[in-house]
Amino acid sequence: MTNRKQILAAALDFDGISQQEIADMITIPADASKGDYCLPCFKLAKTLRKSPVQIAEEAAGRLTCLPPPFKKAEAVNGYLNFFVDTADCAKQVLTEIEKKGASYGDSDEGEGKTVCIDYSSINIAKPFHIGHLCTTVIGGALYRIYKKLGYTPVGINHLGDWGTQFGKLIVAFKKWSSEEALHEKGMTELTSIYVRFHTEAETDPTLEDQARAWFKKIEDGDEEALRLYNLFKEITLKEVEKTYKRLKIKFDSYNGEAFYNDKMQPVLDELKEKGLLKKDDGAEIVDLSDDGMPPCLLVKADGATLYATRDLAAAYYRKKTYDFYKSLYVVAYQQNLHFRQVFKVLEKLGKEWAKDCVHVAFGMVSMESGAMSTRKGKVIYLEDVLNKAVEKSYEIINEKSPQLENKEETAEMVGVGAVIFSVLYNNRIKDIVFSYDKVLNFDGETGPYVQYTNARCLSVLNKVGKCDAVPDFSAVDNAEGQAVIALLERFPSVLRESVEKYEPCCIGRFLVDLCKSYNRFYLVHRITGEAEQVKKARAMLTNAVHTVLEEGLRLMGIDAPKKM
Ligand code: ARG
Repeated sequence: MTNRKQILAAALDFDGISQQEIADMITIPADASKGDYCLPCFKLAKTLRKSPVQIAEEAAGRLTCLPPPFKKAEAVNGYLNFFVDTADCAKQVLTEIEKKGASYGDSDEGEGKTVCIDYSSINIAKPFHIGHLCTTVIGGALYRIYKKLGYTPVGINHLGDWGTQFGKLIVAFKKWSSEEALHEKGMTELTSIYVRFHTEAETDPTLEDQARAWFKKIEDGDEEALRLYNLFKEITLKEVEKTYKRLKIKFDSYNGEAFYNDKMQPVLDELKEKGLLKKDDGAEIVDLSDDGMPPCLLVKADGATLYATRDLAAAYYRKKTYDFYKSLYVVAYQQNLHFRQVFKVLEKLGKEWAKDCVHVAFGMVSMESGAMSTRKGKVIYLEDVLNKAVEKSYEIINEKSPQLENKEETAEMVGVGAVIFSVLYNNRIKDIVFSYDKVLNFDGETGPYVQYTNARCLSVLNKVGKCDAVPDFSAVDNAEGQAVIALLERFPSVLRESVEKYEPCCIGRFLVDLCKSYNRFYLVHRITGEAEQVKKARAMLTNAVHTVLEEGLRLMGIDAPKKM
C-alpha cells in the first residue's frame, strides 16, 4: 500500500515539494468509484502559488503515461484521483503467489538481526496448565513470523527450575512417593505430592523446616538432593514435550533460572561499583523511587537471590551470547512491574540495549469454572483442554463428514488448531474466557472456519484439475475478486505489522477476512463449468487463497487438513 503511494509520488513532480511529502498527502478514498488513491491539492496551493483546481488539472495533463498498476488520473475540483488497473493487479498478485508458493511474503529485512524470544518458560514440577497456553503459542507464532521475515529468532524456555519448592518436593517425595510411582504416573504424581505437602504443612509446620533444609542441600550440591532435583526436572520436561509437539513448539535453549546461579555475582558487583545497590534492613535493593516504582529487591537478608536477580543475569547473558537486536519476554501482564523494574535497572546500569528489551504482555485465560491455584490442586491442565477439544472436533467431523478418511488425524488438527487460533485471534492483552463451543464453531471466526475454507479451496482445485489455458484475469476483476486480491496483496504487510506490534492476532484476523472474502466470491462466481480461460483465472485465485491460508496457519502453529 505505502509502496503504491511511493510509486505515485515518484511519478508526480512538484517543484519544491519532496516525494515523501507528496506520498504522505495521498489518501485512499472511502468510495472506490471516485478513485483508488487521491491527492488533495489544497495543501500544495500555498507553495505552488496556484489554485488547487489548477494544480490538479495541470498535474493530470502532465501524467500522460502512468506507472503500473495505475491506469488513469482524473482531476476533480482540486482533487487528483487515481485509478488502479485492477485486472493487471490481479495478474501480478496471482502470478507472484503461484510462482512463490509458501515463500510468498518471505523477506530478508531481518537479515543479521537476532531476536531473543523468552516464551512458555514453565515451572518445573508444576503442571503445564491453561495459563501457559498464551505465552507458548504467542511466542511460537512470533518465532515463526520473525523467521519468515529473515530475522534469526532464538527461542528460550526460561525454566522456573530453582526455588524452595524443590525442597518441599523432596520432603514430599521421601514421605509419600517413590521413583517407581514417579516414572509411572509422571506429573500427576508430582503435583499430587506437592498438593499434599501444602495440606499437611498446615498442621505440621516442621515440614517447612525440612523443606528449607533440603533446598539448602540442593544449593550446596548434595548428591542425593541434586539427583532428585534432576529427576523432577527430567520428568516434567519429558511430559511437557508431548504438549509442545502437539502445539508445534520448539526451543533453542532451555536455560532456566538455575542456569544463572553462577552468573549473578558479576551483575551485583557492577551494581555495587556504580553505587546503585543499597542495603535495606539487611537486604540489597536498587532504589527506584525516582522512577515511581517500589525498590527492586535483589538479595534477601538471608543472602538468597531472587527472580529479578536471575532476570538481570539472564539479560546480560543473552546480550553477550546472542548480541540481540531485540529481546522479548512473552509473559502475563501480572508481571508488568517486574519487567519495568528489571529494564529500569539495566538502564541505570548504563546498558543502552535496555531499550531493546520488550515485555510482550498478555491477558488471562479462564474457564467458566474460574481461576486456579497449583497449591490447592485446582488446575486445568492444558493437555486436558487439548484432548477435550479434539474429542469434540471428532464428534462434529463425524456428524458433518461421516465418510471422511483419517477422521482421528483431522480431529487432532482441528481441535488443537481451534485452541491455538482462539488465543491468537485476540489482542494479546485481552483476558479470554475459554469456551469449547465458541472456538469449535465451524462458521465462526475460528480456526476450524479457516481450515474449512482452505479445504474448500483444495476441493475446488481438485475439481478443476489440470488446466493449461491462458488465464483471463477479467474473470476475477469484479467487486468480490478485487476484494480478495486486495487482501492477498496485503499479506506481507500484515506479517510486518504483527512483529512491529508483537501481535500475532494480526494474522488471525487477516485470515478470517480472507476466508470471508473468498467465500463471498465463491458464492457469486462459478469456477468449474466456465470457459477454460475463466476457469483458469478463478482457479489461480483459489490457489492463491489456499497458499496464503495454509502459510498463515503454519505461522500460527496450526495444521491445515486437506479434507474436512
Ligand atoms: N516461570 C515464570 C512464570 O511462570 C515465567 C518466566 C518468564 N521469563 C522470565 N525471564 N522471567 O511465572
